[in-house]
Amino acid sequence: MSAGRPEPLVDIIAGARPNFMKIAPIIRAIEARRGAGSRLRYRLVHTGQHYDQRMSGDFFEQLGIPAPDVNLEVGSGTQAEQTAGIMVSYERLLLRERSALCLVVGDVTSTMACAIAAQKLRVPVAHVEAGIRSGDWTMPEEINRLVTDSISNWFFTTSEVANANLRRAGAAPESIFFVGNTMIDTLLANLAKLREPAFWHELGLRPQGYFVMTLHRPANVDEPAAFARLLAEVGEAVRGMPVVFPVHPRTAKTLAGLPVPGSIKPVEPQPYLEFNHLVRHARGVITDSGGITEETTVMGVPCLTLRDTTERPETVSVGTNELVGTDPSRIKPHLDRLFAGQWKRGAIPEKWDGHTGERIALELERLLDAGADPR
Ligand code: UD1
Repeated sequence: MSAGRPEPLVDIIAGARPNFMKIAPIIRAIEARRGAGSRLRYRLVHTGQHYDQRMSGDFFEQLGIPAPDVNLEVGSGTQAEQTAGIMVSYERLLLRERSALCLVVGDVTSTMACAIAAQKLRVPVAHVEAGIRSGDWTMPEEINRLVTDSISNWFFTTSEVANANLRRAGAAPESIFFVGNTMIDTLLANLAKLREPAFWHELGLRPQGYFVMTLHRPANVDEPAAFARLLAEVGEAVRGMPVVFPVHPRTAKTLAGLPVPGSIKPVEPQPYLEFNHLVRHARGVITDSGGITEETTVMGVPCLTLRDTTERPETVSVGTNELVGTDPSRIKPHLDRLFAGQWKRGAIPEKWDGHTGERIALELERLLDAGADPR
């Protein structure tokens, strides 16, 4: 960066659990470049969308993320309440101290809300994990992706499919940077540190001898009778193997009062190192998350996704993921194939190599140093 000019300030936005593993490598890379003479600085803004120790604090501690410079403390609410609350508070922050760029990651409400507030003040926006699409507008995340990408200036992408989606939507090719997957940077950096959760022995877990399940999408967990049927089908299909089930707070609300088959073991939401230890050694994972399908792909663990669509098609075409759908009767045939040793082996998608954070930091520096003029 040329001396004399003010040090460009990048706002890094994080709000909900799946954001934290995505920002960690970017922060590390910016700090490393700063140590090597870069003048890029960052301000870490936590919106407070997730606020529990278990949904937020544990991740900051385990991933070595510095304490946020600012916490907007939006808390829980409806989609519109959270969006509005974050926009008002973030706008206030920008009016107090403007940044040179707003960097948002993923597809949560905080991502979209901060992108809107920044762009309206003509602070350029860069989106990490841009361009992915499920095509399913019933998911709030899909709306967040569409809105964020439609007003972002620069796009950091995880796949060629994302690049093509962005080009089709009219993004200039020179604004798209295919950098890989920051979530995988975090996974690879922490593989050697993964550790057993405290209940490992208590539940009698042994490698390849259990499943991991996570569910939080409204389609699976909001309607009690349907959720009970899903649990019963999983309980039947796993042939007596324990299913470790870290329960998301929204899922816990419906789960209370439902019959839970004996093989399903509900546990608290797990910290990062414990959760990925469980995944790494599991016979298979049953989930409706998107991010977990990327981690199972990299760890080569069979993954059954209980959704009809995915915004991460490479986890299916290249990786170990299969789309089972939301009809629970489809779980057993998939698990039968798994038990018969017929699950695909999978490979690792291009550029999911542990160096994405560095590519992003380098590009940010180049863009800001050049005084890049967003469209
Ligand atoms: C959000 C994201 C979703 C992501 C998920 C991971 C959006 C639209 N969705 O969904 O993409 O996969 O996070 O967790 O942004 N709650 C707590 N403690 C917390 C946070 C939330 O108890 O720290 C409760 C809330 O009060 C609410 C429920 O959990 O009842 C849902 O939280 P919310 O952040 O609104 O959405 P998620 O379903 O977690």
